[in-house]
Amino acid sequence: MAAEFLLVTGGAGFIGANLVHRLIRTTGFGVINLDNLTYAGNLESLADISSDSRYVFAKGDIGNREFVRHLLNQYQPVAIMNLAAESHVDRSIVDAAAFLQTNVVGTYNLLEEARTYWEILPADRKQSFRFVHISTDEVYGSLGESGKFSETSRTLPNSPYSASKASSDHFVRAFFHTYGLPTVTTNCSNNYGPYQFPEKLIPLIISNALDGKPLPVYGDGGNIRDWIYVEDHCAALQMILQNNTPGEVYNIGADDEQKNIDVVRQICAVLEEVRPAAGNEKLAERGLKHYTDLITFVPDRPGHDRRYAIDSSKIKAEVGWTPAVKFRDGLRRTVDWYIAHTEWVEHVRSGAYQDWIHKNYAWRLEEKK
Ligand code: NAD
Ligand code: DAU
Repeated sequence: MAAEFLLVTGGAGFIGANLVHRLIRTTGFGVINLDNLTYAGNLESLADISSDSRYVFAKGDIGNREFVRHLLNQYQPVAIMNLAAESHVDRSIVDAAAFLQTNVVGTYNLLEEARTYWEILPADRKQSFRFVHISTDEVYGSLGESGKFSETSRTLPNSPYSASKASSDHFVRAFFHTYGLPTVTTNCSNNYGPYQFPEKLIPLIISNALDGKPLPVYGDGGNIRDWIYVEDHCAALQMILQNNTPGEVYNIGADDEQKNIDVVRQICAVLEEVRPAAGNEKLAERGLKHYTDLITFVPDRPGHDRRYAIDSSKIKAEVGWTPAVKFRDGLRRTVDWYIAHTEWVEHVRSGAYQDWIHKNYAWRLEEKK
């Protein structure tokens, strides 16, 4: 058993799974992964570390106060890293209820339990404890053709998802100012890389292209996102954990702005190199010669933010973090990963990943309903 634990919430999701892997691989901390396994939670992503003595999976909701209290008391973590969330903008447009429940109410409940736990810690542990809240650049709204989001940019969320994340950020801020809970908030740009659920642009385009399905591009494809390879984001979170000022906000981005249509075209180009369309039966069945023939412009997302760009000079100067992976290289790695993990993608698409969890996973801890 590890000497010191971190409580990571949402560790079975995309960024969470990458972060848990990294923490187990590169630190001596034990990691408790608190995740209630929504459609986005996938324990297949963590199968390789499931029996590591420093890893504990706890199936539960961040909003379940009793269960959170139990975990805090049992493992006495030195920090909480809150990644659990509903994360997909399109789903929030269809129905925002779960976004309010988890992102706002859930985060509030987690904060309350963290505060109760933190208040009675011995002085040295009380001073070093941190509540690290992982948030998004989408809270700042949309940019015009120039400028970047800084930590002092106004919060102007445009989607139900970003409104719920902005609300959680405000609660985190309020718990620092009102109660002194040592919080840190990070606002990061668009992540891509291994284990991302194929509802998000990059994994969706890779898997649809390989399957010979349409590649949906919203609106005119001119919307811009600032992309960061997930491992760079996780490295930033790890460094912030060690080196931060309570109450502060840190923006995280890799200076890699891309138009959506260019992202889709670049994925097609990488696929032509590693899995040429000429040899793909699915495209041949449709009489198509190139992956780009699958590009299909579809009606725009309502309230679609036009451009995001992150100014990450603060984290670079104060924490010493810099991104290591350029978009071109990260995209190549990502395409290679999805090609090498077709079973992971197939299980997600068929829903079999949820059966797999029940067949293969011995629960270590489970909340009482
Ligand atoms: P994800 O949707 O892939 O994973 C979310 C995880 O949280 C899942 O494992 C899910 O089961 C779990 N979860 C959801 N509700 C829960 C609840 N009530 N209790 C416990 N667990 C719950 O999300 P992601 O893309 O990995 O994002 C992780 C965090 O990072 C989110 O807070 C998101 O807002 C933020 N973020 C994401 C990006 C991005 O590009 N993906 C960028 C910046 C910030
Ligand atoms: O900026 C950070 C945010 O990035 C995170 O907070 C969110 O959790 C994460 O999902 C992501 O939000 P986006 O809405 O930017 O990601 P998504 O992959 O859904 O879309 C990226 C862009 O691609 C966006 O402009 C919409 C567009 N798009 C998306 C899909 C799914 C398409 O054109 N076609 C698609 O099919």
